[in-house]
Amino acid sequence: MAGPPASLSARDVGSFAYLTVKDRSPQILTKAIDTLHRHKSEFFEKHGEKGLEAEKKAISLLSKLRNELQTDKPIVPLVEKFVDTDIWNQYLEYQQSLLNESDGKPRWFLSPWLFVECYMYRRIHEAIIQSPPIDDFDIFKELKDQNFFESQESVIALCTHLQELRKTIEDLDENQLKNEFFKILQISLWGNKCDLSLSGGEHISQKTNIMNSLEDLKPFILVNDMDRLWSLLSNYKKTRQKESVTRVDIVLDNSGFELITDLVLAEFLLSSQLATEIHFYGKTIPWFVSDTTLHDFNWIIKQLKHSNNKWVSQCGVDWEDHIKTGRWVYLDHIFWTLPHDFSTMSQVAPDLHAALQKAHLIFFKGDLNYRKLTGDRRWEFTVPFREALSGFHPAPLCSIRTLKAEVQVGLQPGQGEQLTASEPNWLTTGKYGVFQFDGPL
Ligand code: F6P
Ligand code: MG
Repeated sequence: MAGPPASLSARDVGSFAYLTVKDRSPQILTKAIDTLHRHKSEFFEKHGEKGLEAEKKAISLLSKLRNELQTDKPIVPLVEKFVDTDIWNQYLEYQQSLLNESDGKPRWFLSPWLFVECYMYRRIHEAIIQSPPIDDFDIFKELKDQNFFESQESVIALCTHLQELRKTIEDLDENQLKNEFFKILQISLWGNKCDLSLSGGEHISQKTNIMNSLEDLKPFILVNDMDRLWSLLSNYKKTRQKESVTRVDIVLDNSGFELITDLVLAEFLLSSQLATEIHFYGKTIPWFVSDTTLHDFNWIIKQLKHSNNKWVSQCGVDWEDHIKTGRWVYLDHIFWTLPHDFSTMSQVAPDLHAALQKAHLIFFKGDLNYRKLTGDRRWEFTVPFREALSGFHPAPLCSIRTLKAEVQVGLQPGQGEQLTASEPNWLTTGKYGVFQFDGPL
């Protein structure tokens, strides 16, 4: 039997992977260096001369990294001791073992894109932790926060809609509740347009009220398994015994506006009793510019709570309460910032895999999670989603993702080819989206 297809890689000149490594990644590194420069006086105020020395050191490490990338140097092992250093270095050896002798060492423009891109963010983190006392500085923090502030109009509209809905939710009939569920799901999908790594770290936010655009955006949903999600959850609701739990897990992606849409989804699931408990998973370190860390998660809820708008502030109060009462649980795990695809989770992070197995449904938000679900490979468009998951199935799961990388499975025959003919960049602009479900085995 033929093995899985090749990994996406910058060795394919002209591919999105190639353009990312060539243009977007150095741009992100330049912005990171810039951010350190701009915080110079803050570092000095906080730590005196030591802060300035640390800033210089971090900048020189990042410049070195940018140079290694741009000149296609071999990928070198991580040096600073951290919880995941050994796993990373073992993975690097594994990548080396996959190469033919003539290829030499793993390199930026040769190795799998998923690996080298994750490695870049891990090296950014290494540069920071090697530079105490600024070793807890989140280089992407201000971009994430800006995204939240610039999306205020949409945040207010969403929170208002949610709080109004909660008042009457018990009176809705099946069909009305289903329609509201679909609306909230689509908001969470399009919230994924707002990631900051696709834009090379440039501002991108949801400036207008997203709810007014849902109808217009419908034709851009290429795989739509929302009905199957409804069947699964409404069935749990109907058959659930008193006191028993329906747990939905959300593997988060970006902070800022997208995180708000995911929290709104989580609130809707509880208020509608489609679920009784939500587990969120975030990143332990700053990741792919805009991904959510524990700090971002808490920060955003606090911002909402202190808003002048009563509905927004109500959301903040309620959500803090869910955390206190354990109806919402935030968890992180180093696996999410490793380069491994999810088919290896049961071996690499058996504890995380076992935790996910207890969920009744898992949502995977965003593009990077999709790449890790499918192994970031050059699958035919019509390959079934389950096949691309290569055995990963801790529980029924659904990817909610706008397309920002050249991997897509589970399409109808001809669908991908037609899109390629009419819109050559359809896979990478974030214009299209999927709700792709892999149901009970
Ligand atoms: O740059 C690579 C990439 O993984 C793209 O595929 C995508 O644009 C982005 O980074 C991450 O997107 P998301 O935040 O949706 O995971
Ligand atoms: Mg992201």
